[in-house]
Amino acid sequence: MSGPQRRQSVSLSTQPLAVSPVLATSPPAFSSFSASYEARQRATGAVPFPQQGKALAPFKEDGDRDEPVRILLLENINVSAVDMLKAQGYHVEEQKKALAEDELIAKLKEGGFSAVGIRSKTKITAKVIQEVPSLLVIGCFCIGTNQVDLLAAARAGIAVFNSPFSNSRSVAELVISEIVALSRQLCDRAREMREGIWNKVSKGCWEVRGKTLGIVGYGHIGSQLSVLAEAMGMSVIYYDVIPIMPLGSAKQVESLDDFLGQADFVSLHVPELPETTNMIRAEQISKMKDGAYLINNARGKVIDIPALIDGLKSGKLAGAAVDVFPSEPAANGPNFGDALNAWSSELRSCPNLILTPHIGGSTEEAQSMIGAEVGSALIRYLNYGSTLGAVNFPEVNLRPIIHDGTVRLCHVHLNQPGVLKVVNSILGEHNVEKQFSDSKGDIAYLLADIANVDEKEIKEIYEAIGGSRANIATRMLF
Ligand SMILES: NC(=O)c1ccc[n+]([C@@H]2O[C@H](COP(=O)([O-])OP(=O)(O)OC[C@H]3O[C@@H](n4cnc5c(N)ncnc54)[C@H](O)[C@@H]3O)[C@@H](O)[C@H]2O)c1
Repeated sequence: MSGPQRRQSVSLSTQPLAVSPVLATSPPAFSSFSASYEARQRATGAVPFPQQGKALAPFKEDGDRDEPVRILLLENINVSAVDMLKAQGYHVEEQKKALAEDELIAKLKEGGFSAVGIRSKTKITAKVIQEVPSLLVIGCFCIGTNQVDLLAAARAGIAVFNSPFSNSRSVAELVISEIVALSRQLCDRAREMREGIWNKVSKGCWEVRGKTLGIVGYGHIGSQLSVLAEAMGMSVIYYDVIPIMPLGSAKQVESLDDFLGQADFVSLHVPELPETTNMIRAEQISKMKDGAYLINNARGKVIDIPALIDGLKSGKLAGAAVDVFPSEPAANGPNFGDALNAWSSELRSCPNLILTPHIGGSTEEAQSMIGAEVGSALIRYLNYGSTLGAVNFPEVNLRPIIHDGTVRLCHVHLNQPGVLKVVNSILGEHNVEKQFSDSKGDIAYLLADIANVDEKEIKEIYEAIGGSRANIATRMLF
């Protein structure tokens, strides 16, 4: 077991905390569009906050009882999260940039932060976790969590949250725009006009109404796309490894080969897995309809790009849109050359091809949704102990506490035989209203609500559980 044991003592909170954080607006409105977005958000009011009931508050063991939870937000986290966290009474400190390991350790230690919010550039290493015992929770305000040592965090009793699906709608809308743009050869015409070339053609340009969209991977994005495509008069078929109930009139097709031969547009929405690597290569392209279109907004390795180039140059494919690549530049700039991917210039020379720099999920709305989702997860964990949506913890939640005099025990512990026997022997004399525990690998997490306890009893429970052999982290909230 690495990392110090974490305990957080109890305090009777007299200050009720806000339970319905308001979704904040996007950054300053520079366009009427973003202004109307903000107005919509204001009109819809608060983000639905699933955890109702009595507001619970954790306090530091040796700190001032009314000292607010301290949260450090790095990398310019969206205002939706900042406002939501501040509305809880937390002390929120913001920095625009990422911090290197040693700077991060110094900053977190100096500020006694319980929570840190990052995006993709800040690395939370095992060293950071070991050196900052005050840390309880990490919020990754992005899709991935590769930048965090998840195992080290779990073993130190630190829950990690992210936002894997907040940008699904943004991706689905981009695909819709690509379907129309490809079938009208829009990008080629727009490029020609910029070069001063008037090329008024209708040959090879089609309406999308009545055409068949084939979706590979009917998950969060694929299913949203299905609904939008049907609204434009398209027929939708989909292929997925699991049977999924269709939305609208979409139809699931059992074999990929059958599927490929039926679709006018094939759009890929599968995760990157060994079995999806080069899932669409020369053999699959040959099975597609002549003059079909191929769209990849999933992951770069799902398509064999040299096979796509052959398909476009031979005329087998009438067009393609690619947002993701096997290797992508680390920074913006003129970095998408042959040094990165050997076929880059050949790809760029293909007709009716839309290339975009992995922007499928990059919208103001997605950033705002990510802020609200991860912000809510931090609040639920800090205030109520809920780990719903955690990536490195078992997901445990309890119904809200309604009445005074009930305390919630949040106990992260080693997943070892006999732990529950110890916990129950400590709680046995009390009225345990509800209790739930689950495990994930080496780590287990227990929530228990204990009714009719006074402050002295709460402290006794806390000390007994926090001092038990398998304890990793213990908090008591009320
Ligand atoms: N371009 C972008 O900016 C962007 C943004 C967000 C997500 N993405 C990517 O989009 C993809 C889909 O995301 P999602 O949120 O819809 O994921 P999801 O997990 O909700 O859905 C994926 C679907 O693919 C299916 N699937 C898995 N393996 C399959 C296989 N071999 N054949 C057929 N179906 C298979 C799954 O059963 C699931 O239904 C992911 O690769 C994700 O990384 C890209």
